[in-house]
Amino acid sequence: MEELVINGGKRLEGKVTIKGSKNSILPILAAGILATEGKSVIHDVPNLTDVDNIMEIIEYLGVEVQRDGNIVTLDAIKMNRHDATLDCVSELRASLFLLGPIIARFGFSEISQPGGCAIGTRPIDLHLKGLEALGVTFEQSHGLIKGRTNGLKGARIYLDFPSVGATENLMMAASIAEGQTILENVAEEPEIVDLANFLNNMGAKISGAGTNMIKINGVKSLKGTVHTVIPDRIEAGTYMVAAAAAGGNVLLENVIADHLKPVIAKLKEAGAQVLEEDDGIRVISEGSINCKGIVIKTMPYPGFPTDMQAQLLALLLSAKGRSYVTETIFERRFQHVEEFRKMGADIVMAGNTVALSGVDKIYGASVLATDLRAGAALVIAGLYAEGETRVGNIHYIDRGYDGLVENLRSLGADIKRAVR
Ligand code: EPZ
Repeated sequence: MEELVINGGKRLEGKVTIKGSKNSILPILAAGILATEGKSVIHDVPNLTDVDNIMEIIEYLGVEVQRDGNIVTLDAIKMNRHDATLDCVSELRASLFLLGPIIARFGFSEISQPGGCAIGTRPIDLHLKGLEALGVTFEQSHGLIKGRTNGLKGARIYLDFPSVGATENLMMAASIAEGQTILENVAEEPEIVDLANFLNNMGAKISGAGTNMIKINGVKSLKGTVHTVIPDRIEAGTYMVAAAAAGGNVLLENVIADHLKPVIAKLKEAGAQVLEEDDGIRVISEGSINCKGIVIKTMPYPGFPTDMQAQLLALLLSAKGRSYVTETIFERRFQHVEEFRKMGADIVMAGNTVALSGVDKIYGASVLATDLRAGAALVIAGLYAEGETRVGNIHYIDRGYDGLVENLRSLGADIKRAVR
């Protein structure tokens, strides 16, 4: 089994170019199947296993997919299957994004029930309830979800929770429904705006993306378009925290500072210097040991992102004083706490809050990634732990980080891939 081996104690100096957003490209590739004329050419596509998997699924559905470096070309005209039931579907939650588009285009769809994962049960009730409001009837049996409609009709839908995926699924389906759809209490993440821009360039009529209400006037059909994916704010945040934790001076290029406000605010509060420069964001720090404890509560955007919770915890393990981190989005997103304890962290958990006291030193250990952000967080802790840290289950990391080892090595970290 592959693992990452890190010898801690090296400062990080240099610059990293951030890639396209994983959580943008996944719904955008799903939306691409709605084009019944013309091709879509998508730029800045990161090299991630989640992207490979969803491309494999849409190719199985009959979409022609070509990849040339960071450019992906989709031709969905000859798409001829509606059943996304490949094995990789149940492992890849993002396959749920295909449900809306396939039903919108074919009138019926069959996908494998997406699995839960280490961070929570990941129910899909909001997706199904919203699509039912648009005129879909579902039956679920033997791990399959079958949806059917005699034609999608616009509706007014209130989401019980601002679910990112449900917002995206409903936005895609409503784009070619008959009449107007109003989505309320929706997610406001930048990836929602990026998807809406892609759909509008395909000919959709969507307004309000990025606010808590989105209006969609259905159109007859959509056509391929050209699009560049926004930079990955979570990848950027991960490198910012790595620089703050290990200490050093790192410039991140190809970032949108506006998407990182809560992360920038918390890094400054912890004592790191964060400078917004013309060509990116610079982080200067004397390392975790010179940071101070802070309080964090994850919230839907524009609040502090749940996808940065584990990384900030990693920074705070040696920060002076106490820190409190509350996770409000997922019910089980603290699997990494046990792993930090193996490294000497003084950390306790009570319900959905973690309390920790900074320790003078954390120590390298053999630890296991439990989800992709926890994996990145364990790497960050390993960058400043004394001695050698081995991080297993790194397939999680490969799902969401394109070139993490290469980038950290270029910054001076002592990190490599090895076989356990
Ligand atoms: C997206 O997942 C992201 N994934 C996640 O990133 C991110 O953590 C999450 O949004 C929250 O920001 C992609 O975009 C591919 P949700 P998603 O629906 O859409 C509950 C990463 O590390 N819920 O906003 O699945 C759900 O259980 C990944 O890159 C329902 O109850 O998240 C959770 O508690 C991890 N019913 C909360 O809402 C539903 O029908 C937020 O989930 C749907 C969700």
